[in-house]
Amino acid sequence: MSDETVSRLIQSITARLSDAGIEDAGIDARLLLRSAFGWSAAEQLGNLLDAPPAEHLDQLEEMVLRRATREPLQYITGSTEFFRRQFSVNENVLIPRPETEQLVVQTMAFIRERKIENPQIADICTGSGAIAISLALEMPAAEVHATDISSGALTIAQQNADDLGAELDMYEGDLLEPLSGQFDVIVSNPPYILAGAMPSLQAEVAREPSLALDGGNDGLDVIRPLFEGILAHLKPTNSAAYIEIDPPIEDTVMKLALETFPHAGISLLTDLAGLTRCVSIEHA
Ligand SMILES: C[S@@+](CC[C@H](N)C(=O)[O-])C[C@H]1O[C@@H](n2cnc3c(N)ncnc32)[C@H](O)[C@@H]1O
Repeated sequence: MSDETVSRLIQSITARLSDAGIEDAGIDARLLLRSAFGWSAAEQLGNLLDAPPAEHLDQLEEMVLRRATREPLQYITGSTEFFRRQFSVNENVLIPRPETEQLVVQTMAFIRERKIENPQIADICTGSGAIAISLALEMPAAEVHATDISSGALTIAQQNADDLGAELDMYEGDLLEPLSGQFDVIVSNPPYILAGAMPSLQAEVAREPSLALDGGNDGLDVIRPLFEGILAHLKPTNSAAYIEIDPPIEDTVMKLALETFPHAGISLLTDLAGLTRCVSIEHA
């Protein structure tokens, strides 16, 4: 034990995580070690040939055991990056994905393009608050409202807003039901995974709340009432809604959008991988 080095410790954790079926085991081993020891990447590099700090080894071991059960890395370290900022996450929230940053970009581009000065924005199904908080911080003149049906999720969203210094209003409730008035932009990343696909999710994804993922038999259980809410709460002109979706539901979502919003411009937007990621509903 006395000739143990940080480098050898990383190698042995990598082997254990790899045996547990984790693809990027080497990356996860380094990130767990940094989190347990409170090190930056540079500090980790600088300490590779030294003995690991004994006082943190128990904590590291506990983290490795959790990761070996396929618990997501971000739940173990307690945070993830979204739109250049660190957001706290736990098992009550979906881990925000890089693809979802597109909703933030899309919303900001629309508001700039249409020159809306004090935009009223609603983020429905806010989870960790990643979208709403990013928008509030990027556009201080915006009035941002966020809802989620999960009180556990809203606790984390509020903590993130406080930690990041974002000012916005959060409400617990069903979709747009807690909100009154009309909005310039409504944005949402709702649960949309087909119920039939839920049993075959990657082990890590299956550890995220099913309330955040399961879209029912056709993936539209939440999107259908969400569209009704958008119809009631989106300003009739100079307004937009951006809803995250994925390829298996694009045809049914498109059909429903065309039926629900006959006077809007409807289009499907793709992500950087070229896959359908968002339905855009825009009013002239
Ligand atoms: C896919 S997650 C999105 C979280 C976050 N917006 C993001 O992009 O990382 C969906 C969220 O919708 C919430 N949710 C599910 N059904 C809801 C409903 N009927 N009304 C409001 N929120 C709901 C879940 O609690 C979960 O936080």
